[in-house]
Amino acid sequence: MNDVSDRKNRPDLDAYWMPFTANRQFKADPRLLVAAKGMYYRTEDGREVIDGASGLWCVNAGHGREEIAQAVGQQLLTLDYAPSFQMGHPLAFDFASALAKLAPEGLDRIFFTNSGSESVDTALKIALAYHRARGEGQRTRLIGREKGYHGVGFGGISVGGLVNNRRAFLTLPGAEHLVHTHDLARNAFSRGQPAHGAERADDLERLIALHGAETIAAVIVEPVAGSAGVLPPPVGYLERLRALCAKHGILLIFDEVITGFGRLGAPFAAQVFGVAPDLMTTAKGLTNGAFPMGAVFASRAVHDALVQGPGNAIELFHGYTYSGHPAACAAGLATLEIYRRERLLTRAADLAPAFEAAVHGLRDCPHVIDIRNLGLMAAVELSPREGAPGARGYEAFVGALKAGALVRFTGDTIALSPPLIATPEELERLVAILRSVLIGLA
Ligand SMILES: Cc1ncc(COP(=O)(O)O)c(C=O)c1O
Repeated sequence: MNDVSDRKNRPDLDAYWMPFTANRQFKADPRLLVAAKGMYYRTEDGREVIDGASGLWCVNAGHGREEIAQAVGQQLLTLDYAPSFQMGHPLAFDFASALAKLAPEGLDRIFFTNSGSESVDTALKIALAYHRARGEGQRTRLIGREKGYHGVGFGGISVGGLVNNRRAFLTLPGAEHLVHTHDLARNAFSRGQPAHGAERADDLERLIALHGAETIAAVIVEPVAGSAGVLPPPVGYLERLRALCAKHGILLIFDEVITGFGRLGAPFAAQVFGVAPDLMTTAKGLTNGAFPMGAVFASRAVHDALVQGPGNAIELFHGYTYSGHPAACAAGLATLEIYRRERLLTRAADLAPAFEAAVHGLRDCPHVIDIRNLGLMAAVELSPREGAPGARGYEAFVGALKAGALVRFTGDTIALSPPLIATPEELERLVAILRSVLIGLA
C-alpha cells in the first residue's frame, strides 16, 4: 500500500457504479489515474504509467493533445450545441466529408453516433431498413460470431459472442453466430494472420442451409477480434466471408471500432485486408478518445437504396440528440489533422515488425500458451490457473500497473494496443515491464 497521504484528495467512491468492473474489489483497492500526456498516465500517487492499451483502444494519437482540447473549447464557445434533426451545422458536414476521403472506396456516406455500441445498433438497423426498402423485408436475421464483441446495446449483445455480456439479458430473436476462429491447436504463436481457418467462413453456409439466405440481413464481424483477446483473421477468411455474403445478397458489416484509425497500419482494416464491407462501424480513435463519438460508414448502394422516395420524407427514422455534436466534430477534425500531420494512420505498419519481435520474445515466460499480433495489437494468452480461470489475467493486469504499465486483460489473455505515437524504445519498455510481471506469476 502507498502512503495514505498520497490519497488525501481521493473522492468518495460509493456513488459511482462502475462499468465492467468488480466494484467492491476495485473500491477496496482503487486504481485511479489523474493525468495523462503523450504515452504516459499519472496515477494518484504520482507514478508514471506507460499506456499499453491506448486507454481503452482509443487514444491512438497519445494523450493530452492540445489541438483537440483547443478545438473543443473553441467550438463550445462558438456553437455549443445544434439540433441535428431537420437542422445542421457546418462542422458535421466538414467532418463527414473528411472521413469520406479516408474511407475504403465507396464507403463514403457517414452517419454519426456517440459510441461504438450505438454505431453497431445503427448499422444493424440500417441493414434491416435497406432490405425492407428493396422489397426484401423478410431478411431479418442478424449474424455475428462467437467471441465477437459489438458493444452493449441490445443489437450488439445479440450478435456479440461473449457469454457474460449476454447471459443476464434478453437478446434479439433471429440473431445467430458463426463459429469463432480461435484455433490454438493449429495456430498458436502465429505471427500476423494465422495460416489455418479460412474454411470457418463457410459456417455461413450452414446458417444459410438452416434458415435460407433470403431470411438473412447481415453478417457482422470484427476484422480482428479485439475484446476477445486479439484474434487476427486466418489468411483468406475475410475474403471468403465477403464472397459468400455477396453471393447470397447478405450485407457484410465490419466492426472497426478498434481496428479503425490506424491500428493495423492503414486507416481501416478493410484497406489492410483488401476486403470491402457494405457498412463499417467506428468510434474510439475517431476522436482520439477525447470526446464520445461514433460513426457508421455506408456504401453508396446501401445509402442510395434508403435515401430515395419523396424528397420531403424522412428516409431513416433513426438518430441521436447528439449525432454530429459540434464539439465532437471539432474533436474529430482536430484528431484527423494530427493523424495526417504525424502520419499516424500508417505508422503501425512501420512499428509492427519490431513490436511483433518484442511481444513474441515473451514466449518463454511461464504459463504462456499463445502470442498473437497484427499491426499495433497483440495478445499474450496464459493458461488458466487450476480452479481459478481469469485469476492470472487479473494478477498480470494489476502487477503490470504496479510495475508501470497499463495493459488490458480478458480472462487470462493480456492485450496490448499502445498509442500509434509510441517509439520503438517505448514498445520495448512496455514489453519488458510485462515480462517482469509474467515471470513472477504463480
Ligand atoms: C469492436 C467493438 N465494437 C463495439 C464496441 C463498443 O464501443 P463503446 O464501448 O464505445 O460502446 C467496442 C468497444 O470496445 C468494440 O471493441
